[in-house]
Amino acid sequence: MRTVYWQDGQVKMIDQRLLPGEEVIAEFSTVAEVARSIKEMYVRGAPAIGATAAYGMALAAQNSPATDRDSLLHDLRQAKETLDAARPTAVNLSWATRRLLNLAEHTVLDNVDDLRSALLAEAEALADEDVEINRRMGFNGAAVVPDGANLLHHCNTGSLATVDFGTALGVIYACQEQGKQIHVWVDETRPRLQGGRLTAWELMRAEVPMHLIADNAAGHLMRTGQVDVVVFGADRVAANGDVANKIGTYKVAVVARENGIPVYCVAPTSTVDLSLPDGDQIPIEERGPEEVVEVGARPIAPADAPVYNPAFDITPHRYVTGIVTEEGICYPPFRQSLRAAVERGRAAVDLKRAARRLTAASQKVEYC
Ligand code: MRU
Repeated sequence: MRTVYWQDGQVKMIDQRLLPGEEVIAEFSTVAEVARSIKEMYVRGAPAIGATAAYGMALAAQNSPATDRDSLLHDLRQAKETLDAARPTAVNLSWATRRLLNLAEHTVLDNVDDLRSALLAEAEALADEDVEINRRMGFNGAAVVPDGANLLHHCNTGSLATVDFGTALGVIYACQEQGKQIHVWVDETRPRLQGGRLTAWELMRAEVPMHLIADNAAGHLMRTGQVDVVVFGADRVAANGDVANKIGTYKVAVVARENGIPVYCVAPTSTVDLSLPDGDQIPIEERGPEEVVEVGARPIAPADAPVYNPAFDITPHRYVTGIVTEEGICYPPFRQSLRAAVERGRAAVDLKRAARRLTAASQKVEYC
């Protein structure tokens, strides 16, 4: 099942706040509600946030009372602002809303209903592409995982963090499909426990051999030779290869380097932000104190303890062996390899869009 999808004029998604206890589908009918679903983390993970935001733009078009193109564009620009403000670090969010707005601004369709349909089709295409891209990334990444490997994984980067299949967990699923005997150490990933609540749930359903570990155990496992490869995803990758990912990633990467363990970041080219020269420019989200002083609404610290809760950190590119994208694995110097991958990724999206238009046009001709 897909993490997020469009059905009956609504954006629907599995409510990840309730996993692994309950599997509930949440439904959203307005742009403000979709923005809230991202902010409150019903949906999370950079690619899943991007797809949700794309559907949010389609919803904005559907709900807009506009009867002319200019008014519809005005409402779409407002929707983009609302959605982009939901979470700051994952660049896939503004990448997706930009892609939908660009389509509306540049498509020559004066009929607003045709424009509404085109926007929904684009959101669906973006979601479908995400799954296809993840599979390609997974198989690209599987090439660097030896049979019999022990992997260490941080946060959740699986089907739940994307539309389906996942990024770093996609590499693990691809290894499994190839019949490799692998085992995964799953960082629980405090404070929100995406590793424990989501990754363990996913890997157990997929019957991938794994052990859940407290985050603090990772260094011990690496020093004692029990980890062969470290894999994680990204919320944004700067032009020089610095990676923003879930808080704690940096610590894992540094210890891996100290122990000579290769570190692979797995992220689609839509997560690469060439406009930012390095990781210091990436905005780091800060979240509420309750994530630190409570677990599952139970207090684990004084309720009024002063708390600092950055949700992401930056891993400098020198700790990253390679960045696995759908366009191949990028190696240092990342400035060149990432730019080339992003350009190939953009060209692929343009090609697919042109093919869709051609198919639609030929269907119209057949109909006439
Ligand atoms: O705060 P979250 O759960 O949205 O953070 C998610 C991560 O940090 C993931 O590792 C990242 O988005 C890559 S997921 C494919």
